[in-house]
Amino acid sequence: MPIVHITRRERFCASHRLARPDWSDAKNLEVFGKCSNPNGHGHNYVLWVTVAGQQDPETSFVTDLSLLSRIIKEHVIDQLDHKNIDLDVPFMKGRYSSTENLCVAIWEQLQGPVSALGVQLKTVKVEETENNYAEYHGE
Ligand code: NI
Repeated sequence: MPIVHITRRERFCASHRLARPDWSDAKNLEVFGKCSNPNGHGHNYVLWVTVAGQQDPETSFVTDLSLLSRIIKEHVIDQLDHKNIDLDVPFMKGRYSSTENLCVAIWEQLQGPVSALGVQLKTVKVEETENNYAEYHGE
């Protein structure tokens, strides 16, 4: 059977501050601009998770999308939604909250549970604003 990629979208709202803790406020302001505002700011994030697998010969489906959605909610969304990413999210401990770092951390959260579904995690895409997104392919 053909191998098909399929994508699930989820959303979360969270706040963060784009700043390296080992830099001064002045250096963070110089490098990250208003995103380094000491008291943070918020985003309506959109998360796209793409998996690949062989089609089921009877249903044609690659996987059960409601199960995939449940996995994403449990391992990612429930931990991020309405939280401060820098302070409240255990899987972001030790890395600052750039969209790039968020992508890699979400990949690490999902890889095991998605493999257990019998499909391969292909892409984690995080949209921070309608103009910016980051993608990670596990490389
Ligand atoms: Ni931001």
